[in-house]
Amino acid sequence: MANKKEWKFSTKAIHVGNEADKMTGSVSPPIHLTSTFKQDAIGQTRGFDYSRVSNPTRQRVEQNLAALEGASHAMAFSTGMAATTALFQLFSAGDHILISRNTYGGTYRMSMNVLSRQGIEFEWIDTRDPANVDKHIRPNTKLVHVETPTNPLLELCDLEETAKVCKKHHVLMGVDNTFMSPYGQRPIEMGVDIVMHSSTKSLSGHSDILGGALITNDDELAEKLQFMQKATGAVPSPFDCWLILRSTKTLDLRYQKAADNANVLAWWLAKQKKLDRVIYPGLKSHPQYDIAVKQQRTPNGDVIFGNMISFDISSIKARDRFINKLEIFTLAESLGGVESLVCAPYNMTHAAVPEKIKLDMGITETLVRLSIGIEDIDDLKTDLKNALAN
Ligand SMILES: Cc1ncc(COP(=O)(O)O)c(C=O)c1O
Repeated sequence: MANKKEWKFSTKAIHVGNEADKMTGSVSPPIHLTSTFKQDAIGQTRGFDYSRVSNPTRQRVEQNLAALEGASHAMAFSTGMAATTALFQLFSAGDHILISRNTYGGTYRMSMNVLSRQGIEFEWIDTRDPANVDKHIRPNTKLVHVETPTNPLLELCDLEETAKVCKKHHVLMGVDNTFMSPYGQRPIEMGVDIVMHSSTKSLSGHSDILGGALITNDDELAEKLQFMQKATGAVPSPFDCWLILRSTKTLDLRYQKAADNANVLAWWLAKQKKLDRVIYPGLKSHPQYDIAVKQQRTPNGDVIFGNMISFDISSIKARDRFINKLEIFTLAESLGGVESLVCAPYNMTHAAVPEKIKLDMGITETLVRLSIGIEDIDDLKTDLKNALAN
């Protein structure tokens, strides 16, 4: 049997962390619903003492997620926001963090309303150009945290070039890889230090749990993040860990189908005269199409453009009529599930971001964001067509 590290993505997804239970042979791993573990004598444990610190089911999902990102360590959290908070809390008052300007609105809310009160300085910049990142790094900059594609405008950051800039300045680089999932983009292979996920999204993929993860190859960094996980305690329940472990087995199938559907729909939407701008990294009109081709690749090396599409519709009234008429697309926050969702980022996912900042970035009131699921493509197209005809 080949070394596990040499297994291909889908084999790792199904087998790493999913070894049959040693005691019973159960092929589906058991869920260790326990808060604490019997000690054979004081301080003599069988590897686990208290579930906030570690739990066998959590350990399994952590091994699985690390393998999918091509890394050696993963730390699971109760939500994506808990993971990002733990990462940012590695830093202290007076430290400076650079962040992509249109990241998820909750990241903005936590940074500006929580951690900046404790003295960490955040600066929101355009990370599309690595030279712009270079220009903004200061002597007290400790982390460059990017999202690519960003939420909801799908701006891209050249991961390889930006990682080189960070290395030159000895600054850590983190990537929120939620939109692409490890099936579509593996930033650690491109020189990035830490990958963050909201596993609420494509990793779990069925819109039924919340979760987050931080993943790295750096032993020292992993130790600090494990300390944060234990010290601050925002860990997922064993049942949620099990659900993620079960779901990543089908990540490649789900993500590929959703991205195939999105690609077809984006080209079709781009031809609709009623829409002002259709944003999708797979459209030649996307200003960073070449970067998508360079870095958004499946583990087999095929280009993949993701499952998210944004567009502007003519007016707020037209937006509301369109959304009300949709039958398959559900009006809801979140993304990456098997079911297609629609949302208005200005009022929903980015409600926490001040109006001027939103408008300066291009998050207009008429912007609509679609998360494409794995339903039949003909039904999805008909649903959009009928709603637009309205
Ligand atoms: C790109 C991105 N990052 C992080 C988060 C936060 O994740 P969670 O909702 O699991 O806390 C979200 C949530 O929508 C997201 O879209």
